[in-house]
This record gives sequence, structure tokens and C-alpha cells, in this order.
Amino acid sequence: MDMNKCHCSGVYFEAISRESIDKNCSYKQIAKEKNAGETCTACLIDMKKYCETNTKSQLQLQVGL
Ligand code: FES
Repeated sequence: MDMNKCHCSGVYFEAISRESIDKNCSYKQIAKEKNAGETCTACLIDMKKYCETNTKSQLQLQVGL
């Protein structure tokens, strides 16, 4: 099963994705700020998958696509 958070930092991908939408910046930037994906890096693939999919669908909702 896919991870839903970075276990090393305890930060949920959802929080990263939401904040990146709010601040209009990349999820990678937010993850770095929160220290997510910086320790064992095992979460990086799932984080990328989650954030890229979720951010795209959230933005589509916002602009009504
Ligand atoms: S689980 Fe994210 S850095 Fe270890």
C-alpha cells in the first residue's frame, strides 16, 4: 500500500499538497520546509505521486475544469 505521510517527519502528504496549493509553490519546496522526505527518503516516490495527482485535481476544481 502507498504511504500517506512521511514517517520520519510525521508530515502527511495531504498537508504538503494543500499548503503548496495555498502558497502556489511546488510540493517539493513545502516538503523541504517541513523536513519531509529528507531523512530516509523512502516516502519520496509516494509523496510525488500523491502530490502531483492531488494538486492537479484540486487546481482543476478551483478553475472549474
Ligand atoms: S519516510 Fe519520509 S524521509 Fe523517511
